[in-house]
Amino acid sequence: MTSPLFHTMDISKSSFLITGGSGFIGSNIVAYLVSHNAGKVRILDNLLTSSIENIRPFLDLPNVEFIEGDIRDSETCATACKRIDFVSHQAALGSVPRSVKDPQTTHAINATGFLNMIVAARDAKVKRFVYASSSSVYGDHPVLPKVEAETGKPLSPYAVSKKTNELYASVFANTYGMEVIGLRYFNIYGPNQSPDGAYAAVIPLFMQAVLDNKSPFIDGDGEQTRDFTYVENAVQANMRAMLVQDHNALNQIYNVAVGERSSINELFNNIARLGQSDLKAIHRASRAGDIQNSLADISKAKNLLGYSPSIHLAEGLKRTFEWFRQSALKSN
Ligand SMILES: NC(=O)c1ccc[n+]([C@@H]2O[C@H](COP(=O)([O-])OP(=O)(O)OC[C@H]3O[C@@H](n4cnc5c(N)ncnc54)[C@H](O)[C@@H]3O)[C@@H](O)[C@H]2O)c1
Repeated sequence: MTSPLFHTMDISKSSFLITGGSGFIGSNIVAYLVSHNAGKVRILDNLLTSSIENIRPFLDLPNVEFIEGDIRDSETCATACKRIDFVSHQAALGSVPRSVKDPQTTHAINATGFLNMIVAARDAKVKRFVYASSSSVYGDHPVLPKVEAETGKPLSPYAVSKKTNELYASVFANTYGMEVIGLRYFNIYGPNQSPDGAYAAVIPLFMQAVLDNKSPFIDGDGEQTRDFTYVENAVQANMRAMLVQDHNALNQIYNVAVGERSSINELFNNIARLGQSDLKAIHRASRAGDIQNSLADISKAKNLLGYSPSIHLAEGLKRTFEWFRQSALKSN
């Protein structure tokens, strides 16, 4: 399905670097750029948490280049930024629980790797550096909906790493005159998100469970809420952030969400309904570092970036479930 147009500028002569470009969100950004004839799309990824299959359809295209490399290596970052106009920095080690288990690797990739990337982008004089932050930055701030200016204390090493990104971004904008925009994603889901491994996100886990007819786990009572955001909305935010012309929109951080929330119990019921399943989830202890409720105020992104989430939960879950169903058919 071709996505709607999220940009007006001619991108046929522009070069884009997508770090983490074989990952879930990154590969969706790559797909958008390719389908809209971007001049050059370079992907930097070490395939740590993603499959090359996510970008396989693009690898033979003349305007696509894949660098298999690690952002912990500053030389690799410098090479990747050469002759690039716009960077969308998605590479990171995701997952709050993984960061609780292994804070050092999370820091090395998400904080030091980020610093390597923004230094390389500065040295290569890229036009703009857009990066993935996270709603985890809101930490223990109790107020809903979350507005960008008010954050609390981070509750996990992952949140610390994303907060660090935001601090560096602000300093690099002020000190070196870079154009930098941060996107605080709220629970992104959709095609290419992996259901595998101990740190898989809840929507792919639930969808795979329904397709396999195996009861999934729900952490805690399931009444915790999230602002689940279909990946096409995140792609839109990246495109708008990379190309926005309004100077007031630069050097800012934006919530990227839908602005609606659903509990985990409701989410599971919706997914079970899509799969026509009467499966019941199994409740277990809640996880360290998790926040109870999450809901974004998206008016800043609407006003300054022209962001408008086109896909809401029901449609997003329908599309995603269909993608998982097709993937299961292909692998059988
Ligand atoms: N998915 C979400 O709900 C969500 C929410 C908030 C923030 N984010 C952030 O969005 C970004 C993309 O996340 P995603 O959900 O697509 O996850 P993902 O794991 O699918 O993508 C991350 C990509 O980064 C790559 N990577 C990891 N370490 C690397 C390294 N050292 N060098 C080069 N590449 C490396 C991985 O191989 C993977 O392809 C991340 O920065 C993540 O922290 C995601």
